[in-house]
Amino acid sequence: MTNTVKYNKILILLIMLILNPAVILSQEIESKDACFNCHAITEGRLKTPADMFKSDIHFRKGISCAACHGGDSKEEDQDKSMSKSAGFIGIPQGLQVSKICAKCHSKEFETLSKSVHGQSSTGTGLVINSCITCHGIHNIIPVKSQGSKVNGANIVSTCANCHNNASLMKKYNPGLKVDQLEKYKTSVHGQKVFSGDSKAANCASCHGNHDIKKVNDPNARVYITNIPSTCNKCHGDANYMREYKIPTDQYEKFRKSVHGIALLEKGDLNAPSCNKCHGDHGASPPEVESISKVCGTCHVLNSQMFQESPHKPAFDKSRTHECSACHSNHEINKPTDEMLGTGEKSVCIKCHKDNDKGFLAAGMMKNMIDSLLKDVELANYFINAAEQKGMDVSDSKFEANDIKKVLITSRTSTHYGDIEKYLNTINEGFKITNKAKIDGEEAVNEYYFRRLGLGVSTIFITIICITLYFKLKKIEKKQKT
Ligand code: HEC
Ligand code: HEC
Ligand code: HEC
Ligand code: HEC
Ligand code: HEC
Ligand code: HEC
Ligand code: HEC
Ligand code: HEC
Ligand code: HEC
Ligand code: HEC
Ligand code: HEC
Repeated sequence: MTNTVKYNKILILLIMLILNPAVILSQEIESKDACFNCHAITEGRLKTPADMFKSDIHFRKGISCAACHGGDSKEEDQDKSMSKSAGFIGIPQGLQVSKICAKCHSKEFETLSKSVHGQSSTGTGLVINSCITCHGIHNIIPVKSQGSKVNGANIVSTCANCHNNASLMKKYNPGLKVDQLEKYKTSVHGQKVFSGDSKAANCASCHGNHDIKKVNDPNARVYITNIPSTCNKCHGDANYMREYKIPTDQYEKFRKSVHGIALLEKGDLNAPSCNKCHGDHGASPPEVESISKVCGTCHVLNSQMFQESPHKPAFDKSRTHECSACHSNHEINKPTDEMLGTGEKSVCIKCHKDNDKGFLAAGMMKNMIDSLLKDVELANYFINAAEQKGMDVSDSKFEANDIKKVLITSRTSTHYGDIEKYLNTINEGFKITNKAKIDGEEAVNEYYFRRLGLGVSTIFITIICITLYFKLKKIEKKQKT
């Protein structure tokens, strides 16, 4: 072979490689697998598996067609190689498929068997998913590679093939929603994944792959108390999230918030997990409109009052989040009266200053609630004092309990952002404390009055006794004389 011929051949090879790598590979690949070699020169459905198999990870690892189909892969004779005596099983069917994969992937098989997909939910004995539903067949490539059926946008389509198919899903579970794909497409996650960024969450990032459980199973990754750590796997990993330039502290803040403590420590399932605010599949930051709706689904009164407040139109205009503006989003703490007023911890002074109406209202509200609390103390003092002196103050004590309710409604009524409405609510409190104070004071006074009466009568009796004594002495003297 002359040099030019050699170079021409290399050049042709290169051009072919650029135009179609598969062609060149098919010509170059030599296999010791007799099944492959013969099937590669057959036609149609017998040839296709061999063609596809060239890029399959199993082929690359030297695994023969016989590993799944049985038979003798060293035998070039058609009948002998595919004989029953050599263990040939033909085309594996139904449950057989996963069991074949399980010969080498037992861990995945076991996990899948315990998952919602590894069950037979129609009672026919046939399980919902076999390995090949998700991984395909004859063209299985490493799961992390872009073209893999279980990677990025591909896995979304794989799951959605069933979950977006209403008539198919109805056969298994008519109650299950089939809108996941539609919603997912609108989420930041979906938009990123479909534009080729496989770092954003796909169906499997949140649900798992072989271990998918029903969402109300406490072991499910999306069970309400497991969701924060499922999201946190990515959102709390500063390195993973670096390129996006968004905070990575949502979980840390949420964990310590009033909601996080209620959900994760007290097990209060009424408290919101990440998805209650962000949506399950439409996960994106809540829009200005939906955020107040979200908080308001649970905090109905606060939300209603806010809708009537002067803040509503003002916040709408400046696209300010209705509740987060004062409470934050992930770090919501137990509110205190210090959030009112004009002190350091006041939330009002973030926007109100220099004696504007809001600033004055904030100061007045704080003063009112402070003086109500002082009044409560005073009323309690009188009632306790009277009780200790044995007076019956059970009626007044009952009313003092109502004060707790007033404190709650007053604190809630800050959300009107209206000093008049606040005063109306809190005045109920002053009425109760005043009555309790008066009752308590009267009981104490009566106690002293009674004590005074007792003192006077004691002196009176003593005087009578002394007078009697002298009278007796006088009589005694008279008798002696
Ligand atoms: C010399 C050629 C040749 C060899 C070697 C060979 N096959 Fe085949 N194979 C064929 C032909 C031709 C058919 C279709 C004829 C038939 O259905 O019997 C076929 C059919 C099949 C089928 C489809 C069976 C069905 O029920 O439709 C499978 C699966 C298969 N072969 C796998 C293998 C495996 C695995 C090996 C190696 C252990 C192997 N073949 C070796 C030529 C070959
Ligand atoms: C990792 C396991 C595995 C390997 C390796 C494998 N197959 Fe298969 N093959 C299957 C399964 C599972 C099916 C049944 C797919 C289905 O149910 O649609 C199948 C189906 C087939 C069919 C029937 C296709 C049809 O459309 O009717 C043929 C033919 C076949 N395989 C040949 C081969 C040949 C040839 C090789 C090697 C080049 C090979 N298989 C390697 C698992 C395997
Ligand atoms: C519901 C879809 C689905 C089914 C069914 C499924 N897999 Fe997977 N599999 C996946 C996904 C998703 C991944 C992970 C992809 C990633 O990590 O990017 C995966 C990963 C794998 C891996 C790589 C190692 C690992 O465990 O992460 C192997 C091996 C594997 N699957 C084998 C199997 C076998 C064997 C079966 C049948 C017993 C099976 N799979 C059934 C979706 C599925
Ligand atoms: C004879 C043993 C054997 C059988 C049978 C087998 N596999 Fe594999 N599989 C392997 C080996 C070996 C690898 C390569 C593992 C590696 O690279 O670490 C592999 C790799 C894989 C991968 C890619 C894993 C990764 O880390 O990216 C998937 C997915 C997979 N197999 C699925 C299947 C499915 C589905 C079946 C059944 C249809 C099956 N395998 C049958 C041995 C087998
Ligand atoms: C960002 C995380 C996340 C992603 C991505 C995600 N899910 Fe979900 N999924 C959830 C949460 C959270 C729930 C609801 C749990 C609950 O209701 O308590 C859920 C519920 C479900 C349910 C139960 C029915 C329902 O809608 O409530 C199905 C089925 C489901 N998801 C499938 C999918 C499919 C298919 C995809 C991909 C298109 C997907 N999920 C993507 C988090 C996610
Ligand atoms: C072959 C069709 C099929 C594929 C593919 C599939 N699923 Fe399913 N999945 C189902 C069916 C059917 C059910 C309902 C089972 C039942 O309720 O009995 C289900 C149930 C679920 C559930 C539990 C819903 C509940 O009741 O709480 C989740 C979550 C889920 N699938 C997520 C996924 C994800 C994520 C993927 C992709 C990785 C996926 N599925 C792939 C058919 C499929
Ligand atoms: C597989 C990793 C991963 C998981 C798991 C994940 N996310 Fe994401 N998420 C991302 C990435 C990457 C982005 C894109 C960030 C960007 O573009 O700003 C994103 C974006 C978001 C955004 C939009 C942020 C913004 O302002 O742009 C929200 C909200 C969000 N995720 C919430 C969640 C919630 C809630 C969960 C759990 C139910 C979750 N994510 C699970 C990776 C993940
Ligand atoms: C009580 C409701 C609520 C809960 C619970 C919640 N979020 Fe948020 N989240 C919000 C609001 C409101 C925003 C702000 C949206 C904006 O500014 O556009 C936000 C913003 C985000 C963002 C965008 C980046 C940022 O920090 O501003 C991500 C990512 C995010 N949340 C993830 C999570 C994760 C993960 C969890 C659970 C650990 C969670 N969220 C729990 C309401 C909530
Ligand atoms: C799914 C229902 C739900 C959603 C949505 C929700 N919360 Fe809550 N929230 C609760 C529950 C339940 C508690 C009580 C926790 C505890 O103290 O045990 C609570 C407590 C609070 C508290 C403390 C109340 C107190 O008196 O200690 C504040 C403030 C609060 N939430 C604000 C918000 C804001 C702001 C939003 C929206 C960004 C929001 N919540 C969304 C259920 C919810
Ligand atoms: C203008 C600031 C501001 C806005 C906006 C705001 N809050 Fe508040 N919120 C407060 C202050 C201040 C307190 C504490 C009052 C106190 O303890 O005296 C409070 C207390 C609370 C409490 C505990 C008291 C109670 O009612 O049980 C809840 C719950 C609450 N807010 C929820 C919300 C929700 C939901 C929204 C949105 C609809 C919202 N807040 C909007 C300032 C605000
Ligand atoms: C995020 C900024 C912001 C915060 C925080 C805030 N306000 Fe406002 N407030 C406004 C805006 C904007 C208006 C309407 C414009 C105006 O009249 O100043 C307003 C109006 C008011 C008004 C009506 C004023 C009028 O002119 O009639 C009162 C009262 C008020 N706020 C009280 C409060 C109180 C009390 C707090 C703390 C609990 C508070 N605000 C916290 C922005 C805020």
